[in-house]
Amino acid sequence: MLFDIIFTHICIPMSTTVTPYNDASKTKKEQVEQMFDNIAHRYDFLNHLLSAGIDRSWRKNAVKHIGEIKPKQILDVATGTGDFAFESLSLNPDKIVGFDISEGMLNVGRQKAIESKTDKIVEFVKGDSEGMPFATDTFDAITVGFGVRNFEHLEVGLKEMLRVMKPNGRVAILEVSQPHNALVRFFYSIYFTYVLPTVGKLFSKDARAYSYLPESVKAFPQGQAFVDILKKVGYKNIVWTPLTLGTCAMYTAEK
Ligand SMILES: C[S@@+](CC[C@H](N)C(=O)[O-])C[C@H]1O[C@@H](n2cnc3c(N)ncnc32)[C@H](O)[C@@H]1O
Repeated sequence: MLFDIIFTHICIPMSTTVTPYNDASKTKKEQVEQMFDNIAHRYDFLNHLLSAGIDRSWRKNAVKHIGEIKPKQILDVATGTGDFAFESLSLNPDKIVGFDISEGMLNVGRQKAIESKTDKIVEFVKGDSEGMPFATDTFDAITVGFGVRNFEHLEVGLKEMLRVMKPNGRVAILEVSQPHNALVRFFYSIYFTYVLPTVGKLFSKDARAYSYLPESVKAFPQGQAFVDILKKVGYKNIVWTPLTLGTCAMYTAEK
């Protein structure tokens, strides 16, 4: 019963476009940019706190996968403050480009690159993933951490990533997902519905940002549904790997 109440509370139809501020005068893209600009100063702190640091192990896992092809040019789409980009430094590439629509998030990333003296390798570029300023077949590998869920036009963004990736290049996409096991899903629902929005609001001072998160996860295609979209867009050798009891999904694919 309690499970049903909680699940119904966060139940959003799959087809609904979930936006951060439900503001009809702004596109989803504009609202997403505004939201991440608002929370940029607290993003890293809250990310590690709310995932109990597990997000680091998810990125490491994904970097290990793209590392198998020894990429020299890496693109991190929806890089935010650059944690995925910095994780890829372990692969010793020539260049990592962190690409994002939020200048606030990028500025935090730029500062981290300067402080860690990695700014010669890690470069941050502002723009929209649905139309990137890079030539076709530029990157050996692409990573995206918790970004595709925020795209306004998912297939357009995925196609654009495919375009800028070299033939046989690899992509690793991480996304928050809903666990299959009923008991895990029960605790996950309580956490996502009550704990996460309360802690997020308290520290970020943005009342919507951390309630948008569970809503957008609920509305986003999960597992096989996302695999089917990757296939439709033109990716090959697609593999879906649930991580940490299915609370995160890693999708890997090739061009
Ligand atoms: C949840 S954060 C993830 C940041 C980082 N990848 C990580 O692993 O922590 C999502 C990021 O996606 C970016 N984003 C959303 N839509 C975008 C778009 N259309 N083009 C580029 N970046 C976008 C947001 O600005 C935000 O920084």
